[in-house]
Formats: sequence, structure tokens, C-alpha cells
Amino acid sequence: MLNITVTRTEDEFDRIMAWRIIGQILSNPKSVIGLSTGKTPAKTYQIISEIYKLYPFDTSAVTLFNVDELTNLPRSYSGCCYTMIRNELADALEIPEEHFIMPPTLSDDFERECRDFQKALEDRGGIDLQILGLGANGHIGINQPGTPFASETWVSPMDEIFEARVRRETGVADDYPLGGLTLGIRTIMHARKIVLIAKGGSKAEMAEKMLFGPVTEAIPASVLQLHPNCEFLLDADAAVKIRDKVSK
Ligand code: GLP
Repeated sequence: MLNITVTRTEDEFDRIMAWRIIGQILSNPKSVIGLSTGKTPAKTYQIISEIYKLYPFDTSAVTLFNVDELTNLPRSYSGCCYTMIRNELADALEIPEEHFIMPPTLSDDFERECRDFQKALEDRGGIDLQILGLGANGHIGINQPGTPFASETWVSPMDEIFEARVRRETGVADDYPLGGLTLGIRTIMHARKIVLIAKGGSKAEMAEKMLFGPVTEAIPASVLQLHPNCEFLLDADAAVKIRDKVSK
């Protein structure tokens, strides 16, 4: 039985997600937590930051990272995950640099960076909680349709729409390679707990396929049907196509 939570409003979605993350930290102050960037979690990070400011909780032993990171662009680009997570959450929670493990965005050897990143996670005992956004084409992290389920951390091509946006925002030449270092599907599946987040009508069709379609590499997020401890958190708009399949 899949663990699906559908919220009535966007605000309820943001607050429930905030408490999933805060609850993880409170129950295990040494948690290793993988975040995700994008529009979906932005408000949640604001809420967590506000709660922390009012009622500080112990974050001194928490490790944060993001599920993916852009490659071949400087960290100063505002779309880099390092910068987004620092600005949106890690600074507010006073997470020191050594507890914010992010691969570099520039390197002459990304295969080594992938291995190092994966090792850094393993050295900290693996991932306690992984937050995952849902790509409109079914991607999770940057793992595009067709990514083998056996993949470990690797550099994946981006989805075309996202790549076009990054090129527009950065002005990099069309022939300059862009991609993203991402946890692989197997790495993601080893997380002890996952919360998949999907908000808005643009995710509705994919949410239905992810939850009730076949488990297939053509839709990377569908693999989460097989995870023993994954919660699918959807707002009403993202859940519009599955209303009759979800018990109240
Ligand atoms: C990008 C990121 C993903 C994110 C996804 C959804 O592709 N690499 O990690 O989950 O976008 O973003 P949004 O929440 O803006 O829809």
C-alpha cells in the first residue's frame, strides 16, 4: 500500500513538509538529510527558517546536502543548488560548511567527484531522509527517463526545458556542455526514508503515472513504488487525477 498524503491547500503542503524535516532533526539530531531545489520546496524552507528563528532546535550535528548539483557553472550562479540551499535554508539553520556536503560545480574530474560525494554520504552512515521533487517528465534528482535503476551518483544530462532555462539565464554558448551531478537511482533507493513532493497541476499527469503506472526506467520516479518507506506528498492540484484512487 503506497503512503500518499494529499493536502487541501498549498499552505498545508508547505507546513506538512516543513514538519517532516524538522521532525527528522528532532528525532535524530545527527540526521543526514538530502534536500531538493526548485519551486516546490521553497516556501517550506522559509517556514523551517522562521520556526528555527523563533524556537531554535539543535542543528549542530545535522548534515545537509542536495540531491543534485549543476556542473560546469560557477557556484555564484544563483541557480546552482549549493547557493540555493545555502540561501534558502542552510544559513538560516546555521549549518557549518563541513556539515553541508555538496560536490563542486567545477572540476576536471567529475567521475572522481561522484565517487567522493557518494563516499562522503556513506562515511556519515547513509541518508536518513531524502526529499525529492518530481520532474514533469518523471525525473528525480537529475535522472532523466531511461536512467538505469542500478545507477549510482553520476553526471546526467538535464531535461531539455531546464537546460534551455539555464542557458538563457547564464548566457552560456549552445555547445558548452551542461549537466548535473545527481544521486543515482540506486543511491536514492538506499535512503532510509524518502518524501516525494509534487505541487501544482503541471505535475498531475506525472503523479498519476508515478503512483499507478508500471515501474519502469522510462519514468524514474515510478521506482519509488518499491521503496519501503516513501511518502508521496501531493497538494490537491497535483493529486487531481488520482482523487478516486486515494482513500480519504
Ligand atoms: C529540477 C531539479 C530537481 C527538482 C525539479 C522540480 O530538475 N534538478 O531536483 O526536483 O527541478 O522542480 P520544481 O519544484 O521547480 O518543479
